[in-house]
Amino acid sequence: MQIEKTAAGVRAQVKAWKKEGLSVGLVPTMGYLHEGHKSLIDRAVEENDRVVVSIFVNPIQFGPTEDLETYPRDLEADRKLCEQAGASLIFAPEASEMYSEDFSTFVDAGKVTEELCGKSRPTHFRGVCTVVNKLFNIVAPDRAYFGQKDAQQLAVIRRMVRDLNMDLEIIGCPIIREEDGLAKSSRNTYLSDEERKAALVLSKAIFAAKAMAEGGEKDGDKILETMKNIIKKAEPLARIDYVEMVRWDTIEIHHTIDGPTLIAIAVFIGKTRLIDNVLLQ
Ligand code: PAJ
Repeated sequence: MQIEKTAAGVRAQVKAWKKEGLSVGLVPTMGYLHEGHKSLIDRAVEENDRVVVSIFVNPIQFGPTEDLETYPRDLEADRKLCEQAGASLIFAPEASEMYSEDFSTFVDAGKVTEELCGKSRPTHFRGVCTVVNKLFNIVAPDRAYFGQKDAQQLAVIRRMVRDLNMDLEIIGCPIIREEDGLAKSSRNTYLSDEERKAALVLSKAIFAAKAMAEGGEKDGDKILETMKNIIKKAEPLARIDYVEMVRWDTIEIHHTIDGPTLIAIAVFIGKTRLIDNVLLQ
């Protein structure tokens, strides 16, 4: 398995593969890979002849007070995981390779970015769309893989690809959880033992919402209220950023389950902001 630091190096390799008629899958990540990332790589390996994993902690998707500096990094462990999973190439650029000093072009997907995480992280999705667009242009994959864990991100990427006529398929993959329910995340490493226990309120609230919806409850306000009460039990360690229900494709607030619906939450556990969700089709 190759590690490439430059866009030109990746392009040359992908061109050679395409000349041989091989299909290419891309798994964009920020590294510190875990079972959640691995499930995306596994699926990409199943469905493509060659798989590129990008590892890049993208500075422009972090807000000024967020964890860009402390975001965990371990390229050697990531290399092993990618190699074992059967990836062909890691693209691990420096920030200067991706953003020249006078970089000035951004991609904004509009309304789908305004609610949920977009509300508390107003420049986040512009940063995500811009870097993912760059990765698509560098790798030119046939398929790209994203986790349902970041449900709004998946909806935003699908919208961008549709609106800008990008020629690739976006594959959404299910949330991978710890045995006790906590959704796997690179940010879980920030949690102390006590916080790790408190963090279970996220999946508890999500599972309760799912059970209510599956039991026939259509009233979003009742479901959201139940979720908030579950999370409040973990105070003062847990602080709600949002507990919301939206239409799945447009990410508009909608508190009645009468079509594909996303229930999504963001909760601060101490200083760590964690997210979780359930999609009701
Ligand atoms: P990162 O947080 O590293 O996540 C990379 C991919 O892994 C995303 O598509 C995310 O949804 C998926 N993922 C993370 N945890 C998961 C879990 N527990 N189960 C299933 N999938 C999971 O998301 C990003 O990086 C960045 O925003 C990126 C798209 C790379 C752009 O910088």
